[in-house]
Amino acid sequence: FNNVTVYTAPADWKNRGTLYGRVVLLNQNCEEDNVLLSTWTVNSPNKTYLPIYKSLDFGRTWNPLSKVYFKTSGYTAIAQPFLYELAETFGDYPAGTILVSGNTFSKSGTAIELHASLDKGQTFEYVSTIATGGAPSTNDKGTSIWEPFLLAYDNKLGVFYSDSRDPLHSQKLSHQTSTDLLTWGPVVNDAASQNYTLRPGMTTIAKMGNGKFIFSYELDKATGVPAYAKQPIHYRIADSPFEFDNAEELPLVATDGTVASSAPQTIWTPAGGPNGTILTSASHAEDFFINTAYGDPSAWVRVVSGHGIGYSRALQIIPKTDGKVILVFNGGSWQNGPKEVSAGDFLIP
Ligand SMILES: *[C@@H]1O[C@H](CO)[C@@H](O)[C@H](O)[C@H]1NC(C)=O
Ligand SMILES: *[C@@H]1O[C@H](CO)[C@@H](O)[C@H](O)[C@H]1NC(C)=O
Ligand SMILES: *[C@@H]1O[C@H](CO)[C@@H](O)[C@H](O)[C@H]1NC(C)=O
Ligand SMILES: *[C@@H]1O[C@H](CO)[C@@H](O)[C@H](O)[C@H]1NC(C)=O
Repeated sequence: FNNVTVYTAPADWKNRGTLYGRVVLLNQNCEEDNVLLSTWTVNSPNKTYLPIYKSLDFGRTWNPLSKVYFKTSGYTAIAQPFLYELAETFGDYPAGTILVSGNTFSKSGTAIELHASLDKGQTFEYVSTIATGGAPSTNDKGTSIWEPFLLAYDNKLGVFYSDSRDPLHSQKLSHQTSTDLLTWGPVVNDAASQNYTLRPGMTTIAKMGNGKFIFSYELDKATGVPAYAKQPIHYRIADSPFEFDNAEELPLVATDGTVASSAPQTIWTPAGGPNGTILTSASHAEDFFINTAYGDPSAWVRVVSGHGIGYSRALQIIPKTDGKVILVFNGGSWQNGPKEVSAGDFLIP
């Protein structure tokens, strides 16, 4: 299926824009019913929240399940959400706990909060605030934080995010880890350019079939790229998602010369050949980029996605398809695109 409308904001809302859809498949409690949960950014006229929707038919139809309200007093927006299901216990939160994170902000600052659901998304409780930053800004002097991404590895939950607080970097990517979700370790760099001006942003990480991890991100302010590639996508490969800082930075350029750009999402699926397939969605165009050689920089192929353009489209492998069917979940477009959340399937070539 394609172009299924998941959500449009109520007609009487002043700002009906949506953005940044995210999906999680619940599979930690032997679920037989293939529950998918999703969320995205809305601009609700009242105290804002993240909507949680549920699908029982692989993403074709969705129904509202709950709303997650954030805690930081006076912060009016919630952007860049992320959904995750725990596969192991952390502190008071057992395997099967649903986590939602996001960046809440106002003119006075930014804060990445963590909330948890012990009942499969029906209700959420505040857990902790992982990091705080200055007011939202993409200028060199800004000290904001953005775009959390969650991944557990080596008995630690990592929260990866964009970080403009370090005076040595206009922006860098970093992470913090926790074993109880309440206390968070030091800020560790994932991508911090030697050139102050460059702004790596928007972490996405996937584990590949060879056991290595691929980390992709946009690189704002990069030069020497075509005009359409305003934030060329780069990537790194490492044995641990917590050790990307020293890995080589590679540009994602397809065999036809296309420079993938802006707000990537990357997954690895076992379908598509002996090495499986890395699938990256870019946000500068409708295209996807695939790589069947575990990230060999000469092996990226641009493919027609068959789906509309969207800012940071989420990709979710659909179960019981041998990894061949990918749900494309489009939370909307940053500027002029359709003001709706939509979904459709992509088949791995
Ligand atoms: C939400 O805000 C609108 C004005 O923007 C107001 O008319 C309405 O009563 C509010 N709803 C609630 C539930 O507070
Ligand atoms: C740093 O990056 C900026 C933006 O891409 C570029 O204009 C500048 O030449 C770079 N500086 C150095 C020393 O490479
Ligand atoms: C599998 O990956 C290796 C590199 O890891 C590459 O040499 C080989 O060509 C790939 N196979 C296919 C079918 O792409
Ligand atoms: C789905 O909608 C997008 C525009 O949002 C369009 O570009 C695309 O062609 C549509 N796909 C189909 C199969 O209708």
